[in-house]
Amino acid sequence: MKILITGATSGIGRQLALDYHAVGHEVWALGRSPAALAELETLGIHCAQVDLEDREATLEWFAGLETLDLAILSAGNCEYIDLPAFDSALVARVMRANVESLAHSIEGVLPALRHGRNPHLVGIGSSASYLPLPRAEAYGASKAAVAYMLDTLRIGLAAEGIRVSHVAPGFVKTPLTDRNDFPMPCLVTVEQASRAIRKGIAGGKKEIHFPKRFTGTMKLLSVLPRSVWLALARKMVR
Ligand SMILES: NC(=O)c1ccc[n+]([C@@H]2O[C@H](COP(=O)([O-])OP(=O)(O)OC[C@H]3O[C@@H](n4cnc5c(N)ncnc54)[C@H](OP(=O)(O)O)[C@@H]3O)[C@@H](O)[C@H]2O)c1
Repeated sequence: MKILITGATSGIGRQLALDYHAVGHEVWALGRSPAALAELETLGIHCAQVDLEDREATLEWFAGLETLDLAILSAGNCEYIDLPAFDSALVARVMRANVESLAHSIEGVLPALRHGRNPHLVGIGSSASYLPLPRAEAYGASKAAVAYMLDTLRIGLAAEGIRVSHVAPGFVKTPLTDRNDFPMPCLVTVEQASRAIRKGIAGGKKEIHFPKRFTGTMKLLSVLPRSVWLALARKMVR
């Protein structure tokens, strides 16, 4: 398969690039860090430095891509709100990193996917979109937007035979979560995350969520009366 992965210079995206390359797929890795891109290039992975928040630069780069069988859009960032300060500039940054850059990437990859074999578009959201989590006013809202965008695209792209999957990870140990200053239940490694995502993609799953002991609990809480979750969440904040 010809596979493109954004956010491939770090964390989940990088591990996916390494694992798909290791079993012989042609991988295109996108990111910003020149050092991380150079390292992937020495392994024989095709690399490109693209700032996905820059729509013009993103579309210009993607215009040179002819065909693609699988696009995994993993680029993103996380910042938390610390009340009482509600920082709208932080909200805008998170939306640019997680929603706008994803939209630029989708606009960029679709023409190439339309020429691919059994094309598949995969976006990395977060299980944070299942429930309102403390301090995640910006991050959770951005990932809820990601989930909605992908779920809606699945309907629109079905007629063209382009499959769409939404990945909702729990906590994965990466530079992104290394910054967290709170306990992260059921934390998994990038190798475990990559395995779960690749298995879900191979199985054509529309929603890929893991680890199940964490995301299953989140899903269960999300269908209970919201007052149950609010009482628990208030305790977490205290
Ligand atoms: N780790 C978790 O527990 C977890 C849980 C749920 C969801 N997620 C989601 O999974 C995805 C990957 O997270 P991660 O933990 O692997 O994070 P990470 O290690 O911090 O990697 C983030 C990647 O996104 C790239 N990126 C960010 N902004 C970009 C931009 N404007 N243009 C191009 N590339 C950009 C980074 O590139 P450079 O470093 O080269 O700038 C890096 O490769 C994110 O969407 C995140 O929200 C993660």
